[in-house]
Amino acid sequence: MPTPRLSRYHCHRRRVRDEEPDHVPAARERPLPGWPGSREIHLWQLAIDSANDDMACCPLDAGEIARAERFAFRRDRSRYIAAHVWLRRILGSYLELPAERIALSYGTHGKPRLAAAISDGRSPLWFNLSHSGDHALLAVASDREIGVDIEVLRVGIAEPQLMKSVLSAAEQQALATLPRRDVDAGFLRCWARKEAVLKALGCGLNLEPSELTVGPRVGRVWIVGPGAVSVEVACIDGLAGCVAAVAAVGGFARTVCRDLPPAGERA
Ligand SMILES: CC(C)(COP(=O)(O)OP(=O)(O)OC[C@H]1O[C@@H](n2cnc3c(N)ncnc32)[C@H](O)[C@@H]1OP(=O)(O)O)[C@@H](O)C(=O)NCCC(=O)NCCS
Repeated sequence: MPTPRLSRYHCHRRRVRDEEPDHVPAARERPLPGWPGSREIHLWQLAIDSANDDMACCPLDAGEIARAERFAFRRDRSRYIAAHVWLRRILGSYLELPAERIALSYGTHGKPRLAAAISDGRSPLWFNLSHSGDHALLAVASDREIGVDIEVLRVGIAEPQLMKSVLSAAEQQALATLPRRDVDAGFLRCWARKEAVLKALGCGLNLEPSELTVGPRVGRVWIVGPGAVSVEVACIDGLAGCVAAVAAVGGFARTVCRDLPPAGERA
């Protein structure tokens, strides 16, 4: 969710548990990535709370460094750098390349992807990154466009005006049936699913969010986007203090949560 719109809301973190049974089962596996299987999405929860914003030995490219330098607040800059260092390290571990050799290119609406030459004849990797506060999530797939969104749980986020502006009429009705205490989480689930779809399509918020109906449930749903492109979306369970969703053009079979190396091994 774009930060400017949300920054004025009070943030509150609490543990969330998916209440519905048909969420995406996320198998836990360690270590080393291996190539994602067909219709499989690897999920990496990234540690971006480190305060390190020293760019001296940083693997970021000129565009990323320029972007990092534009952040007004040091904390945002640190989080951006940490997320992009992890992005490069993880993509590098799949491709067996050092982080600084990862070359990125950008779609019409700014969606980053691996520059084509890097894939070396293998099926290219697709990825998508999302961050919210200290949390970031990276999704990686081998054979399809994907989108991911993570949102820190916030109390009081589901303001009527915000809901009206970004939710479809059907979603507003669905949220109106929830008990008051569940509305914030329901709204953020709905938003995360919506943004994951918009990011899988690559259009981001250039497509009016209220034109999509993804609903506040955690289970899988197929959405037909512009140009009759089919996208499957579902919530990701088990992320303490956050809600998250992943979407794939043409659908996906399963998600696999990958673990970062232990702190001592993070070169
Ligand atoms: C994509 C978008 C919905 C992300 O919103 P956000 O609330 O900042 O959310 P997230 O943290 O979940 O995602 C940000 C990440 O998504 C990726 N991203 C950027 N644009 C994207 C797009 N169009 N589609 C998919 N992913 C995109 C980037 O990796 C970005 O991370 P970075 O800023 O560290 O590089 C929003 O930025 C958007 O609508 N962008 C399009 C803007 C545009 O049209 N720009 C013109 C061309 S540059």
